[in-house]
Amino acid sequence: MILFDTHTHINDARFDEDRASVIENMLAAGVKLAMVVGEASKDHDIAFELAEAYPFLYAATGVHPHEASKWSKDVEERIVQAMAHPKARALGEIGLDYHYDLSPREEQREVFARQLAMAKSLDKPVIVHIREAHGEAMDIMRACDLPRGVLHCYTGSWESAKVYLNMGFYISLSGAVTFKNAPKLAEVAQNVPLDRLLVETDCPYMAPVPMRGNRNEPAFVEFTARKIAELRGMDAEEFAFAAYENGKRLFGI
Ligand code: NI
Repeated sequence: MILFDTHTHINDARFDEDRASVIENMLAAGVKLAMVVGEASKDHDIAFELAEAYPFLYAATGVHPHEASKWSKDVEERIVQAMAHPKARALGEIGLDYHYDLSPREEQREVFARQLAMAKSLDKPVIVHIREAHGEAMDIMRACDLPRGVLHCYTGSWESAKVYLNMGFYISLSGAVTFKNAPKLAEVAQNVPLDRLLVETDCPYMAPVPMRGNRNEPAFVEFTARKIAELRGMDAEEFAFAAYENGKRLFGI
């Protein structure tokens, strides 16, 4: 099986002890490409160091909605510089998170809109994180000249997914689709056109069944791909390859 884990945080400190073996496991599991997502308001250097060290790793950075209140001219400049890196393939993750509300909502909206505009002018795709804020996110997205991009770790409804698809966005599913009592996500997995669906781990979070509760890692993306293929009634290898090609197309790999 050939897989692309389109959203990982293997730069996270939880991988400091064994990052090299996590990367070996990933290759052994058929994960031929992975996107490493850094955080521009903190330290995204490890994401770019990994992308430099391994030909099959790529990097993204931006200001997460949790960190929106840390936005500054310096942070903006760091993103612009990082996007010039040859292995920088997306601006993100950006968006709105009204579940945790770790930054004031008004700042989240401003920083989201500003980064969408930056991505458009830099001609980079965006990785979008939206939690419990789909209506407002759509308003912001409709009001701007949108770059291309993906709704990462999508946990919304099929109705909302259709709106994002109509905006030209891809939908990426994480291990959440493998959880029991996820009928909403099953509907999304079944209905997104095959050429618009991605898979990801969002590791170290969101480990899929049967690894749920453990630290997640890129090798586990296979469980998510198999579950989606089962929901769609298609061959797992065929689905995984389609999702791999979709990721390459979106991120220009
Ligand atoms: Ni993430």
